[in-house]
Amino acid sequence: METLIININRLTGILPAETRRLCGAEMDKVQVLEDAWLSIRDGKIAAFGPMSELKVEKTAPGRIIDAGKGDVLPTFCDPHTHLVYAGCRDGEFRDKIAGLTYEEIAARGGGILNSADLLHETGEDELYRQAMERIAEISAMGTGAVEIKSGYGLTTEDELKMLRVIRRIRKDSGLIVRSNFLGAHAVGRAYTGRQSEYVDLICMEMIPAVAAEGLADFVDVFCDQGFFTVEETARILETAARYGIRPKIHANELAVSGGVQVGVAWNALSVDHLERTTDTEIEALKGTETMPTMLPGASFFLGMPYGRAKDYLAAGLPLALASDYNPGSSPSGNMRFVMALGCIRMRLTPEQAFNACTINAAYAMGVSELAGSITVGKTANLILTRPIPSLAYIAYAHQTPFIRSVFLQGKPVDSTSKSPF
Ligand code: NIG
Ligand code: FE
Repeated sequence: METLIININRLTGILPAETRRLCGAEMDKVQVLEDAWLSIRDGKIAAFGPMSELKVEKTAPGRIIDAGKGDVLPTFCDPHTHLVYAGCRDGEFRDKIAGLTYEEIAARGGGILNSADLLHETGEDELYRQAMERIAEISAMGTGAVEIKSGYGLTTEDELKMLRVIRRIRKDSGLIVRSNFLGAHAVGRAYTGRQSEYVDLICMEMIPAVAAEGLADFVDVFCDQGFFTVEETARILETAARYGIRPKIHANELAVSGGVQVGVAWNALSVDHLERTTDTEIEALKGTETMPTMLPGASFFLGMPYGRAKDYLAAGLPLALASDYNPGSSPSGNMRFVMALGCIRMRLTPEQAFNACTINAAYAMGVSELAGSITVGKTANLILTRPIPSLAYIAYAHQTPFIRSVFLQGKPVDSTSKSPF
């Protein structure tokens, strides 16, 4: 059955089918068609055009949605989240306010290990239930594609539990979902003081088990000060490469860690965080297929520097933004807020921030042939707004509830219902 959306004020984010990502000055523009219609068939964008050229066959079955001069945009893609976790870490929020840093909280046995303890005690069904609440939350806020990491298991059994939950979310949610194995998020408690043996466990037991079940699209390492070294990262990425699993890695959040360079050396699809980078990292990324991905929600929550987004664009590089939705450094998956932080704190133009949250974010999770733009043949994951004055308004009025409907695979998700799933 066909769905036809008519009277769209601005159909925003149109791109040719062959565009996989936008680099440097290409990010300055967002193509818009004014006074438009768009049709959906079999969950995909079937066609679009100007209202003046719309011919509706009276006999055609289907339904017509009058946009009433609202805008239609592609849903946001969120290429870096940890949204499968148990409970939350609101206690550490108090420690943080009292002045402890992220690293100090982690060094006291809190942080990621705290979440790992909670996850260990939580059954798979309950973990799935909690994660699906977050999925309902982000889809209502306009996210239509999401990458989700493991990394709160830190034992083979619990990492597999997390990845199986992600597989269920992928099957059930209507979002485009990609999974990322992050066994190297922290050293599991049983291996305290024996980090290299934990890396052995990742390489010799976890990766083979994950690959045997086909549970991960990507492999990740928290390559940073106090977590995993460049050498350990290379070992893990080398092992993953033997199983055909491409990296997306955490780099340069807490220090200039060498994470960008090791990521590039192993052809990472993305290197993420980048709060602390020098010109050397920018040089290292030039001419590569690796998407620099910044997570301004983590900078906001932890009071860290924001990534040097404008310098990356001036160097001709692409840039993606992501929420980093997780219980420790960014307990929010709101991509509109991410877009707003991109503009307000990183000085991206609304067009650059929009491209960073859509087509480039799709690239950073390996789905830019499916999502991230208004393109015939892409999945009809769309946002329909109430009438809004401009693209800039999305970031400017970032708390205003102007989303009228979110469509996932062509079907509207009622943003007022408790859970669409
Ligand atoms: O991306 N940096 C490492 N991992 C997460 C935080 C995870 C946590 O604190 O639970 C991040 O910020
Ligand atoms: Fe992260």
